[in-house]
Amino acid sequence: MADQKFNQVQEIISEISAEIISNLQELEAFKIKYLGSKNVLKPLFGEIKNISNERKKEFGNLLNQAKNTAEEKFNELQELLSKSSKASAKVDAIDMSAPGEPFPIGARHPVSITMNRIIQIFSKIGFTIATNREIEDEWHNFTALNTPDDHPARDMTDTYYLMNDPARMLRSQTSTVQIHVLESQAPPIRIISPGRVYRNETISARSHCQFHQIEGLYIDKKVSFADLKQTLLYYAKEMYGQDARIRLRPSYFPFTEPSAEVDVYWGLNNEHDHRITKGTGWLEIMGCGMVDPKVLENCGIDPEEYSGFAFGMGIERQAMLTYKITDIRMLFENDVRFLKQFSGNI
Ligand code: DAH
Repeated sequence: MADQKFNQVQEIISEISAEIISNLQELEAFKIKYLGSKNVLKPLFGEIKNISNERKKEFGNLLNQAKNTAEEKFNELQELLSKSSKASAKVDAIDMSAPGEPFPIGARHPVSITMNRIIQIFSKIGFTIATNREIEDEWHNFTALNTPDDHPARDMTDTYYLMNDPARMLRSQTSTVQIHVLESQAPPIRIISPGRVYRNETISARSHCQFHQIEGLYIDKKVSFADLKQTLLYYAKEMYGQDARIRLRPSYFPFTEPSAEVDVYWGLNNEHDHRITKGTGWLEIMGCGMVDPKVLENCGIDPEEYSGFAFGMGIERQAMLTYKITDIRMLFENDVRFLKQFSGNI
């Protein structure tokens, strides 16, 4: 009779050890079965009083062993399973079917967009890109461009000189690249030079101390003023539409002779047109002319054999016209709300 009770406890101990528990629900059932208020050991604890005195202690120990085995197994598994359930909760938090995080796509700057358009227009007729340095010497920014020391044209623009080296300056025009190219390449030459230039000007809605220009230079045998006009008309039509018209007004630049300023007909359809064209309908977009023979000579090219034309235009002005930007400073402030509006352009 007593042996039977001992055997029952032994069986429960083996059962406890054999229980396979793989999740928290199963662990809860285990707890109820072996440690809960109505656990399977409880009736056997009630039997202690019926065990003979000499075996009471032994039986009690065996029951305690069973209880401890259940407790130890429970504690061990609880720790293990709660750890791994936390880990799997983390894995569940990554929803593989959810749409990806939006990735912000940048926008090109309106100056770059305009510059790229102009480059494209001239590349179609065989102009290639030439660029050069922004810190210049007097020779490239002035002297070789037929603007010697005492020449009044040096005052036409307020140039930034380097403090520790007055012979060096920030270039005030991309015409400097003409000289670099003429010095290093033999004609025929057909280049455009986009780049940044600097002038010590008061910053306002209409002018800035830094801006961009594109210079053009074409040197070959028998290049005429008619070639220049046709090239610029082609440009105006590509840039401003096939009905675009241009006019050339006589002007002065030290490095071209004759020189002209180029206007494009903008129209006078509304108040805005009146304001930006000062009531004339025409807008000035660039300077141009036939390269002065002196410039070719300065660069070792024989003006008897070669001739050519040059032109130079500001980018900001044209970007502002295209995008109806009323203040040049917006182009340099890098306000994301402004720049975002140009996304999608190339
Ligand atoms: N460099 C002149 C300027 O910044 C623009 C210019 C005029 C460039 C006539 C030229 C040219 O190449 O032929 O105002």
